[in-house]
Amino acid sequence: MGAPADHLAEAFHGLADHLRFLQALGVKELPLSREYLAGPGGGLRRLEQAIEGCTRCKLCRGRRTIVFGSGPAEAGLMLIGEGPGEEEDRQGKPFVGRAGQLLTRMLESVGISRDEVYITNIVKCRPPGNRNPEPDEIAACAPFLDGQLAAIRPRIVCALGTFAAQTLLRTREPIGKLRGRVHAFGAIPLIPTFHPAFLLRNPGPQYRRLAWEDMKLLRREYDRARGG
Ligand code: URA
Repeated sequence: MGAPADHLAEAFHGLADHLRFLQALGVKELPLSREYLAGPGGGLRRLEQAIEGCTRCKLCRGRRTIVFGSGPAEAGLMLIGEGPGEEEDRQGKPFVGRAGQLLTRMLESVGISRDEVYITNIVKCRPPGNRNPEPDEIAACAPFLDGQLAAIRPRIVCALGTFAAQTLLRTREPIGKLRGRVHAFGAIPLIPTFHPAFLLRNPGPQYRRLAWEDMKLLRREYDRARGG
């Protein structure tokens, strides 16, 4: 644990991040009610209210539901995918299709339960035909992901697949080059790995073995970040 001054500096940074997020959403006044000030859970609830019925980008035209995210607001580990697929769009929850089932098994293989992590995506609405999200869609959704990060303040982030890793790390490097090591995502360690849908499409042992290495790295860094 750091000195009180470190905690204070951290709190100010968190507050500044959150105010920038609200500014990006066009908020001009702040209600200082008890609910508003209620920790990470309150922050997430406000964000979910703010995204209701969102029409900030063209993805709103084809979606059934907005897939905001799932998991505890106090999660130490946050996983970020690309965007909801068909099943997620139907159920309103991230990673609930076949790729999601594989993700659950990948986490469990290193003793991490899905119940303890927060899962979300770069964009919260399904891109038609599961195409990659486009730059205007990513930009429109960015304040929500930033808000989730500011509310949860995870100790470690895992980027699932090329698209999420490249977007978060602002790089064009392929996932094969990005994976296998820890990157700095602001002050948060970020571990990229293959998207579980990619692993389903490429079932050979070679990618599975690398994904397993990534999961072990994630476990080590997660323990370290929690002071274990
Ligand atoms: N693929 C993603 O990137 N996100 C989901 O939620 C489901 C599949």
